[in-house]
Amino acid sequence: MKILIVGTGYVGTTTGLIFCEMGHQVTGLDLDENKIRSLKEGKLHFYEPGLDALLSKHVAAKHITFTRKTEKAVKENDLIFICVGTPQDADGSADLSYVKSVAESIGKYMNKYKVIVTKSTVPVGTAELVTQWVSDKQRTQIPFDVVSNPEFLREGSALQDALKPDRIVIGTTSETATIMMRDLYKDFECPIIETNPTASEMIKYAANSFLAMKISFINELARLCDKLQINVNDISKGIGLDHRIGPHFLHAGLGYGGSCFPKDVNALIKTAKENKVPLSILESVVTVNEEQPHYLIEKIKATLGDDLKNKTIAVLGLAFKANTDDTRESPSLKVIERLLQEEVQVKAHDPIVKMEESPFLQLATIEETVAGADALVIGTDWDEYKNLDWTGIKQLMKQPFIFDGRNIIDRDDTEGFGFHYLGVANY
Ligand code: UGA
Repeated sequence: MKILIVGTGYVGTTTGLIFCEMGHQVTGLDLDENKIRSLKEGKLHFYEPGLDALLSKHVAAKHITFTRKTEKAVKENDLIFICVGTPQDADGSADLSYVKSVAESIGKYMNKYKVIVTKSTVPVGTAELVTQWVSDKQRTQIPFDVVSNPEFLREGSALQDALKPDRIVIGTTSETATIMMRDLYKDFECPIIETNPTASEMIKYAANSFLAMKISFINELARLCDKLQINVNDISKGIGLDHRIGPHFLHAGLGYGGSCFPKDVNALIKTAKENKVPLSILESVVTVNEEQPHYLIEKIKATLGDDLKNKTIAVLGLAFKANTDDTRESPSLKVIERLLQEEVQVKAHDPIVKMEESPFLQLATIEETVAGADALVIGTDWDEYKNLDWTGIKQLMKQPFIFDGRNIIDRDDTEGFGFHYLGVANY
Protein backbone atom coordinates (compact mmCIF):
# COMPACT_ATOMS: atom_id res chain seq x y z
CA MET A 1 0.00 0.00 0.00
CA LYS A 2 1.06 3.62 -0.46
CA ILE A 3 0.69 5.35 2.86
CA LEU A 4 0.98 9.01 3.78
CA ILE A 5 1.88 9.94 7.35
CA VAL A 6 1.16 13.54 8.24
CA GLY A 7 3.27 14.73 11.19
CA THR A 8 6.77 13.43 11.90
CA GLY A 9 6.86 13.38 15.70
CA TYR A 10 7.63 10.13 17.50
CA VAL A 11 4.17 8.70 16.76
CA GLY A 12 4.16 9.57 13.04
CA THR A 13 7.74 8.49 12.43
CA THR A 14 7.42 5.25 14.40
CA THR A 15 4.13 4.37 12.71
CA GLY A 16 5.56 5.09 9.25
CA LEU A 17 8.64 2.97 9.88
CA ILE A 18 6.58 0.06 11.16
CA PHE A 19 4.54 0.17 7.95
CA CYS A 20 7.83 0.10 6.00
CA GLU A 21 8.77 -3.02 7.97
CA MET A 22 5.47 -4.55 6.84
CA GLY A 23 6.45 -3.93 3.21
CA HIS A 24 4.52 -0.73 2.48
CA GLN A 25 5.72 2.40 0.70
CA VAL A 26 5.51 5.39 3.05
CA THR A 27 5.68 9.16 2.63
CA GLY A 28 6.22 11.37 5.68
CA LEU A 29 4.78 14.86 5.38
CA ASP A 30 5.64 17.75 7.66
CA LEU A 31 5.68 21.50 7.14
CA ASP A 32 8.78 21.97 9.27
CA GLU A 33 11.78 22.35 6.96
CA ASN A 34 14.39 21.37 9.56
CA LYS A 35 12.58 18.18 10.53
CA ILE A 36 12.19 17.11 6.90
CA ARG A 37 15.82 17.87 6.08
CA SER A 38 17.01 15.83 9.03
CA LEU A 39 14.71 12.87 8.31
CA LYS A 40 15.74 12.83 4.63
CA GLU A 41 19.31 12.40 5.82
CA GLY A 42 18.17 9.47 7.93
CA LYS A 43 18.54 11.39 11.20
CA LEU A 44 15.81 11.65 13.85
CA HIS A 45 15.00 15.15 15.10
CA PHE A 46 14.07 13.70 18.51
CA TYR A 47 15.47 11.04 20.82
CA GLU A 48 13.82 7.63 20.59
CA PRO A 49 15.89 4.51 21.28
CA GLY A 50 16.20 2.06 18.40
CA LEU A 51 14.34 4.17 15.87
CA ASP A 52 17.38 5.77 14.23
CA ALA A 53 18.65 2.44 12.86
CA LEU A 54 15.25 1.66 11.36
CA LEU A 55 15.06 5.13 9.85
CA SER A 56 18.49 4.90 8.16
CA LYS A 57 17.62 1.44 6.84
CA HIS A 58 14.33 2.49 5.23
CA VAL A 59 15.58 5.85 3.99
CA ALA A 60 18.50 4.09 2.28
CA ALA A 61 16.15 1.51 0.73
CA LYS A 62 13.75 4.33 -0.29
CA HIS A 63 10.86 2.61 1.51
CA ILE A 64 10.18 5.93 3.20
CA THR A 65 10.56 9.40 1.73
CA PHE A 66 9.91 12.77 3.36
CA THR A 67 8.36 15.86 1.88
CA ARG A 68 6.83 19.26 2.63
CA LYS A 69 4.69 19.20 -0.53
CA THR A 70 1.16 18.60 0.71
CA GLU A 71 -0.67 18.58 -2.62
CA LYS A 72 1.56 15.97 -4.25
CA ALA A 73 1.61 13.82 -1.12
CA VAL A 74 -2.18 13.83 -0.79
CA LYS A 75 -2.72 13.06 -4.47
CA GLU A 76 -0.25 10.18 -4.57
CA ASN A 77 -1.52 8.30 -1.48
CA ASP A 78 -4.84 6.62 -0.77
CA LEU A 79 -4.33 5.88 2.90
CA ILE A 80 -3.55 8.96 4.96
CA PHE A 81 -2.65 8.92 8.67
CA ILE A 82 -3.04 12.13 10.65
CA CYS A 83 -0.36 12.05 13.35
CA VAL A 84 -0.08 15.73 14.25
CA GLY A 85 -0.09 17.10 17.80
CA THR A 86 -3.22 18.00 19.75
CA PRO A 87 -1.76 20.23 22.48
CA GLN A 88 -3.76 21.37 25.48
CA ASP A 89 -5.78 24.56 25.09
CA ALA A 90 -5.98 27.13 27.89
CA ASP A 91 -9.32 25.64 29.06
CA GLY A 92 -7.98 22.05 29.25
CA SER A 93 -9.52 20.88 25.99
CA ALA A 94 -7.49 19.45 23.10
CA ASP A 95 -6.46 21.99 20.47
CA LEU A 96 -7.56 20.54 17.13
CA SER A 97 -6.20 23.29 14.91
CA TYR A 98 -3.44 21.12 13.39
CA VAL A 99 -5.86 18.27 12.76
CA LYS A 100 -8.29 20.70 11.13
CA SER A 101 -5.65 22.19 8.90
CA VAL A 102 -4.53 18.72 7.73
CA ALA A 103 -8.15 17.65 7.09
CA GLU A 104 -8.78 20.81 5.07
CA SER A 105 -5.66 20.24 2.95
CA ILE A 106 -6.76 16.67 2.26
CA GLY A 107 -10.18 17.95 1.17
CA LYS A 108 -8.63 20.64 -1.02
CA TYR A 109 -6.22 18.34 -2.86
CA MET A 110 -8.28 15.14 -2.97
CA ASN A 111 -8.28 13.57 -6.42
CA LYS A 112 -9.76 10.10 -5.72
CA TYR A 113 -11.19 7.93 -2.90
CA LYS A 114 -9.12 8.16 0.28
CA VAL A 115 -9.18 6.58 3.71
CA ILE A 116 -8.26 9.20 6.28
CA VAL A 117 -7.10 7.82 9.63
CA THR A 118 -6.71 9.83 12.83
CA LYS A 119 -3.88 8.52 15.01
CA SER A 120 -3.55 11.75 16.93
CA THR A 121 -5.33 11.68 20.30
CA VAL A 122 -8.58 13.49 19.59
CA PRO A 123 -11.75 14.03 21.61
CA VAL A 124 -14.89 12.01 21.05
CA GLY A 125 -16.66 13.32 17.97
CA THR A 126 -13.54 14.39 16.08
CA ALA A 127 -13.96 11.81 13.28
CA GLU A 128 -17.22 13.54 12.45
CA LEU A 129 -15.52 16.92 12.50
CA VAL A 130 -12.74 15.64 10.24
CA THR A 131 -15.41 14.42 7.80
CA GLN A 132 -16.95 17.88 7.85
CA TRP A 133 -13.61 19.72 7.45
CA VAL A 134 -12.61 17.53 4.50
CA SER A 135 -16.02 17.92 2.80
CA ASP A 136 -16.04 21.68 3.28
CA LYS A 137 -12.84 22.04 1.24
CA GLN A 138 -13.63 19.59 -1.54
CA ARG A 139 -13.95 21.20 -4.94
CA THR A 140 -15.88 18.25 -6.34
CA GLN A 141 -17.56 15.56 -4.29
CA ILE A 142 -15.14 12.62 -4.08
CA PRO A 143 -15.99 9.81 -1.65
CA PHE A 144 -13.72 9.23 1.34
CA ASP A 145 -13.90 7.50 4.72
CA VAL A 146 -12.61 8.53 8.13
CA VAL A 147 -11.21 6.01 10.62
CA SER A 148 -10.15 6.45 14.23
CA ASN A 149 -7.10 4.28 14.92
CA PRO A 150 -5.52 5.48 18.18
CA GLU A 151 -1.92 4.76 19.09
CA PHE A 152 -0.71 3.40 22.42
CA LEU A 153 3.00 4.07 21.98
CA ARG A 154 5.12 5.15 24.92
CA GLU A 155 7.94 7.60 24.33
CA GLY A 156 11.20 5.79 24.93
CA SER A 157 9.79 2.39 23.94
CA ALA A 158 7.70 3.41 20.93
CA LEU A 159 9.34 0.89 18.64
CA GLN A 160 8.63 -2.18 20.82
CA ASP A 161 5.11 -0.91 21.50
CA ALA A 162 4.47 -0.47 17.77
CA LEU A 163 5.92 -3.84 16.83
CA LYS A 164 4.10 -5.74 19.56
CA PRO A 165 0.88 -3.91 20.37
CA ASP A 166 -1.48 -5.33 23.01
CA ARG A 167 -4.38 -4.53 20.69
CA ILE A 168 -5.30 -2.53 17.62
CA VAL A 169 -8.43 -0.41 17.62
CA ILE A 170 -10.20 0.39 14.37
CA GLY A 171 -13.12 2.79 14.62
CA THR A 172 -15.15 3.29 11.48
CA THR A 173 -18.61 2.69 10.07
CA SER A 174 -17.29 2.07 6.56
CA GLU A 175 -16.94 -1.49 5.31
CA THR A 176 -14.40 -0.50 2.62
CA ALA A 177 -12.22 1.26 5.19
CA THR A 178 -12.52 -1.66 7.63
CA ILE A 179 -11.30 -4.10 4.95
CA MET A 180 -8.38 -1.81 4.11
CA MET A 181 -7.39 -1.42 7.77
CA ARG A 182 -7.69 -5.17 8.44
CA ASP A 183 -5.39 -5.79 5.52
CA LEU A 184 -2.92 -3.19 6.76
CA TYR A 185 -2.68 -4.85 10.18
CA LYS A 186 -2.99 -8.47 9.00
CA ASP A 187 0.54 -9.44 10.15
CA PHE A 188 0.08 -8.32 13.75
CA GLU A 189 -0.56 -11.04 16.30
CA CYS A 190 -2.87 -9.17 18.65
CA PRO A 191 -6.61 -8.72 19.07
CA ILE A 192 -8.20 -6.19 16.75
CA ILE A 193 -11.15 -4.28 18.10
CA GLU A 194 -13.52 -3.05 15.45
CA THR A 195 -15.92 -0.43 16.65
CA ASN A 196 -17.33 2.93 15.67
CA PRO A 197 -15.22 6.13 15.66
CA THR A 198 -16.58 7.62 18.89
CA ALA A 199 -15.95 4.46 20.91
CA SER A 200 -12.48 4.22 19.42
CA GLU A 201 -11.71 7.81 20.39
CA MET A 202 -13.00 7.13 23.91
CA ILE A 203 -10.87 3.97 24.25
CA LYS A 204 -7.73 6.06 23.88
CA TYR A 205 -8.75 8.57 26.57
CA ALA A 206 -10.00 5.81 28.86
CA ALA A 207 -6.71 3.90 28.53
CA ASN A 208 -4.51 6.90 29.36
CA SER A 209 -6.83 8.02 32.15
CA PHE A 210 -6.93 4.56 33.71
CA LEU A 211 -3.13 4.34 33.72
CA ALA A 212 -2.89 7.85 35.19
CA MET A 213 -5.39 6.73 37.85
CA LYS A 214 -3.19 3.77 38.81
CA ILE A 215 -0.25 6.14 39.27
CA SER A 216 -2.21 8.61 41.39
CA PHE A 217 -3.68 5.75 43.41
CA ILE A 218 -0.26 4.41 44.36
CA ASN A 219 1.16 7.90 44.94
CA GLU A 220 -1.59 8.84 47.35
CA LEU A 221 -1.33 5.49 49.10
CA ALA A 222 2.44 6.06 49.33
CA ARG A 223 1.79 9.13 51.48
CA LEU A 224 -0.13 7.01 53.95
CA CYS A 225 2.54 4.31 53.74
CA ASP A 226 5.14 6.96 54.55
CA LYS A 227 3.23 7.91 57.69
CA LEU A 228 3.01 4.25 58.70
CA GLN A 229 6.59 3.43 57.64
CA ILE A 230 5.43 0.84 55.12
CA ASN A 231 7.37 0.15 51.93
CA VAL A 232 5.00 1.09 49.10
CA ASN A 233 7.03 -1.01 46.62
CA ASP A 234 5.96 -4.11 48.54
CA ILE A 235 2.36 -2.98 48.23
CA SER A 236 2.73 -2.50 44.46
CA LYS A 237 4.20 -5.99 44.19
CA GLY A 238 1.61 -7.48 46.51
CA ILE A 239 -1.36 -6.08 44.64
CA GLY A 240 0.21 -6.17 41.18
CA LEU A 241 0.51 -9.95 41.24
CA ASP A 242 -3.26 -10.15 41.32
CA HIS A 243 -3.91 -10.51 37.60
CA ARG A 244 -7.06 -8.44 37.94
CA ILE A 245 -4.90 -5.50 39.01
CA GLY A 246 -1.65 -6.11 37.10
CA PRO A 247 1.86 -4.97 38.03
CA HIS A 248 2.25 -2.00 35.69
CA PHE A 249 1.95 1.70 36.42
CA LEU A 250 2.06 1.17 40.16
CA HIS A 251 5.48 2.71 40.67
CA ALA A 252 5.22 5.55 43.18
CA GLY A 253 7.21 8.72 42.58
CA LEU A 254 6.76 12.35 41.61
CA GLY A 255 3.59 11.80 39.62
CA TYR A 256 2.99 11.43 35.91
CA GLY A 257 4.21 13.94 33.33
CA GLY A 258 4.75 14.03 29.59
CA SER A 259 2.78 15.20 26.62
CA CYS A 260 -0.03 12.68 27.04
CA PHE A 261 -1.39 11.80 30.49
CA PRO A 262 -1.74 15.36 31.88
CA LYS A 263 -3.31 16.64 28.65
CA ASP A 264 -5.53 13.63 28.00
CA VAL A 265 -6.92 13.33 31.54
CA ASN A 266 -7.78 17.04 31.46
CA ALA A 267 -9.40 16.73 28.04
CA LEU A 268 -11.59 13.83 29.20
CA ILE A 269 -12.61 15.79 32.30
CA LYS A 270 -13.50 18.69 29.99
CA THR A 271 -15.61 16.45 27.73
CA ALA A 272 -17.34 15.06 30.81
CA LYS A 273 -18.14 18.53 32.14
CA GLU A 274 -19.49 19.66 28.78
CA ASN A 275 -21.79 16.67 28.88
CA LYS A 276 -22.73 17.35 32.50
CA VAL A 277 -21.39 13.98 33.68
CA PRO A 278 -18.52 14.94 35.97
CA LEU A 279 -15.74 12.36 36.37
CA SER A 280 -14.90 12.92 40.01
CA ILE A 281 -12.37 10.07 40.20
CA LEU A 282 -10.34 11.64 37.42
CA GLU A 283 -10.58 15.06 39.03
CA SER A 284 -8.95 13.53 42.11
CA VAL A 285 -6.34 11.84 39.93
CA VAL A 286 -5.29 15.28 38.70
CA THR A 287 -5.27 16.78 42.20
CA VAL A 288 -3.07 13.99 43.60
CA ASN A 289 -0.75 14.31 40.64
CA GLU A 290 -0.38 18.06 41.02
CA GLU A 291 0.39 17.66 44.73
CA GLN A 292 3.04 14.99 44.31
CA PRO A 293 6.06 17.21 43.43
CA HIS A 294 5.13 19.42 46.41
CA TYR A 295 5.05 16.34 48.62
CA LEU A 296 8.75 15.89 47.90
CA ILE A 297 9.44 19.56 48.65
CA GLU A 298 7.74 19.12 52.03
CA LYS A 299 10.04 16.16 52.73
CA ILE A 300 13.06 18.29 51.85
CA LYS A 301 11.86 21.07 54.15
CA ALA A 302 11.13 18.67 56.99
CA THR A 303 14.73 17.49 56.74
CA LEU A 304 16.78 20.56 55.78
CA GLY A 305 14.59 23.11 57.54
CA ASP A 306 11.78 25.37 56.39
CA ASP A 307 14.09 28.01 55.05
CA LEU A 308 15.79 26.58 52.00
CA LYS A 309 17.17 29.96 50.87
CA ASN A 310 20.75 29.75 49.60
CA LYS A 311 20.90 25.99 50.00
CA THR A 312 22.35 24.16 47.00
CA ILE A 313 20.37 21.24 45.65
CA ALA A 314 21.50 18.91 42.88
CA VAL A 315 18.69 17.53 40.73
CA LEU A 316 19.45 14.46 38.64
CA GLY A 317 17.14 14.17 35.65
CA LEU A 318 15.08 16.69 33.72
CA ALA A 319 13.14 14.49 31.28
CA PHE A 320 9.57 13.52 32.25
CA LYS A 321 10.75 9.90 32.39
CA ALA A 322 13.80 7.88 31.35
CA ASN A 323 14.75 7.21 27.73
CA THR A 324 13.34 10.41 26.30
CA ASP A 325 14.53 13.97 25.73
CA ASP A 326 11.01 15.26 26.35
CA THR A 327 10.58 17.64 29.29
CA ARG A 328 6.93 18.50 28.74
CA GLU A 329 5.07 18.49 32.09
CA SER A 330 8.16 16.94 33.64
CA PRO A 331 7.64 16.34 37.39
CA SER A 332 11.33 17.03 37.86
CA LEU A 333 10.94 20.53 36.42
CA LYS A 334 8.01 21.10 38.78
CA VAL A 335 10.24 20.23 41.73
CA ILE A 336 12.91 22.59 40.37
CA GLU A 337 10.37 25.38 39.94
CA ARG A 338 9.38 25.08 43.60
CA LEU A 339 13.02 24.97 44.71
CA LEU A 340 13.74 28.15 42.72
CA GLN A 341 10.75 29.84 44.38
CA GLU A 342 12.38 28.98 47.71
CA GLU A 343 15.56 30.68 46.42
CA VAL A 344 17.51 27.45 46.34
CA GLN A 345 20.55 27.30 44.11
CA VAL A 346 19.63 24.47 41.73
CA LYS A 347 22.25 22.50 39.84
CA ALA A 348 20.85 19.97 37.41
CA HIS A 349 21.94 17.12 35.17
CA ASP A 350 20.34 14.99 32.51
CA PRO A 351 22.04 12.41 30.27
CA ILE A 352 20.12 13.57 27.17
CA VAL A 353 18.15 16.76 27.79
CA LYS A 354 19.99 19.98 27.08
CA MET A 355 17.80 22.95 27.92
CA GLU A 356 18.87 26.07 26.08
CA GLU A 357 17.60 28.64 28.51
CA SER A 358 16.97 27.70 32.11
CA PRO A 359 16.93 29.64 35.37
CA PHE A 360 19.17 26.99 36.93
CA LEU A 361 22.62 25.66 36.29
CA GLN A 362 22.83 22.66 34.01
CA LEU A 363 26.04 20.70 34.24
CA ALA A 364 27.62 18.09 32.03
CA THR A 365 28.60 15.53 34.65
CA ILE A 366 27.00 14.08 37.75
CA GLU A 367 30.14 14.91 39.74
CA GLU A 368 29.99 18.63 38.84
CA THR A 369 26.27 18.65 39.62
CA VAL A 370 26.53 17.20 43.11
CA ALA A 371 29.68 19.12 44.10
CA GLY A 372 28.94 21.31 47.14
CA ALA A 373 25.25 20.28 47.27
CA ASP A 374 23.26 20.14 50.50
CA ALA A 375 21.03 17.49 48.99
CA LEU A 376 20.57 15.37 45.92
CA VAL A 377 17.16 14.90 44.31
CA ILE A 378 16.40 12.13 41.82
CA GLY A 379 13.99 13.72 39.33
CA THR A 380 14.02 11.15 36.50
CA ASP A 381 14.35 7.37 36.58
CA TRP A 382 17.33 7.14 34.23
CA ASP A 383 19.31 3.88 34.58
CA GLU A 384 22.48 5.99 34.93
CA TYR A 385 21.29 7.17 38.35
CA LYS A 386 20.50 3.75 39.80
CA ASN A 387 24.00 2.68 40.76
CA LEU A 388 26.08 5.76 41.38
CA ASP A 389 29.54 5.89 42.92
CA TRP A 390 28.23 6.75 46.38
CA THR A 391 31.66 7.04 48.01
CA GLY A 392 32.75 9.62 45.43
CA ILE A 393 29.45 11.47 45.58
CA LYS A 394 29.48 11.69 49.37
CA GLN A 395 32.93 13.25 49.28
CA LEU A 396 31.77 15.89 46.79
CA MET A 397 28.53 16.85 48.56
CA LYS A 398 28.31 19.32 51.43
CA GLN A 399 25.65 17.30 53.23
CA PRO A 400 24.71 13.63 52.63
CA PHE A 401 20.97 13.90 51.88
CA ILE A 402 19.25 11.98 49.09
CA PHE A 403 15.63 12.63 48.12
CA ASP A 404 14.67 9.92 45.67
CA GLY A 405 11.63 11.20 43.80
CA ARG A 406 11.54 8.06 41.67
CA ASN A 407 12.26 5.29 44.17
CA ILE A 408 15.09 3.94 42.03
CA ILE A 409 17.91 3.92 44.56
CA ASP A 410 18.66 1.19 47.03
CA ARG A 411 18.11 2.66 50.46
CA ASP A 412 20.38 0.20 52.31
CA ASP A 413 23.15 0.80 49.80
CA THR A 414 23.24 4.56 50.28
CA GLU A 415 22.72 4.38 54.04
CA GLY A 416 25.67 2.02 54.14
CA PHE A 417 27.75 4.87 52.73
CA GLY A 418 26.47 7.25 55.40
CA PHE A 419 23.73 8.97 53.43
CA HIS A 420 20.40 10.02 54.87
CA TYR A 421 17.95 8.57 52.32
CA LEU A 422 14.31 9.60 51.78
CA GLY A 423 12.24 8.14 48.97
CA VAL A 424 8.49 8.07 48.38
CA ALA A 425 7.60 5.47 51.03
CA ASN A 426 10.63 3.49 49.86
CA TYR A 427 11.80 1.61 52.94
C1 UGA B 1 1.57 7.30 27.50
C2 UGA B 1 0.93 5.90 27.42
O1 UGA B 1 1.63 4.99 28.28
C3 UGA B 1 0.96 5.36 25.98
O2 UGA B 1 0.28 4.12 25.92
C4 UGA B 1 0.26 6.37 25.08
O3 UGA B 1 0.28 5.96 23.72
C5 UGA B 1 0.95 7.72 25.19
O4 UGA B 1 0.91 8.15 26.56
C6 UGA B 1 0.20 8.67 24.31
O5 UGA B 1 -0.96 8.99 24.61
O6 UGA B 1 0.70 9.03 23.23
P1 UGA B 1 4.08 8.24 27.62
O7 UGA B 1 3.46 9.56 27.88
O8 UGA B 1 5.16 8.13 26.61
O9 UGA B 1 2.95 7.17 27.16
O10 UGA B 1 4.70 7.74 29.00
P2 UGA B 1 4.38 6.63 30.12
O11 UGA B 1 5.41 5.59 30.07
O12 UGA B 1 2.99 6.22 30.08
O13 UGA B 1 4.64 7.50 31.45
C7 UGA B 1 3.87 8.66 31.75
C8 UGA B 1 4.29 9.26 33.05
O14 UGA B 1 3.92 8.43 34.15
C9 UGA B 1 5.81 9.45 33.20
O15 UGA B 1 6.07 10.69 33.83
C10 UGA B 1 6.24 8.29 34.08
O16 UGA B 1 7.41 8.56 34.81
C11 UGA B 1 5.02 8.18 35.00
N1 UGA B 1 4.86 6.86 35.61
C12 UGA B 1 4.64 5.76 34.85
C13 UGA B 1 4.89 6.74 37.00
O17 UGA B 1 5.07 7.73 37.73
N2 UGA B 1 4.70 5.51 37.56
C14 UGA B 1 4.48 4.41 36.81
O18 UGA B 1 4.31 3.32 37.40
C15 UGA B 1 4.46 4.52 35.42
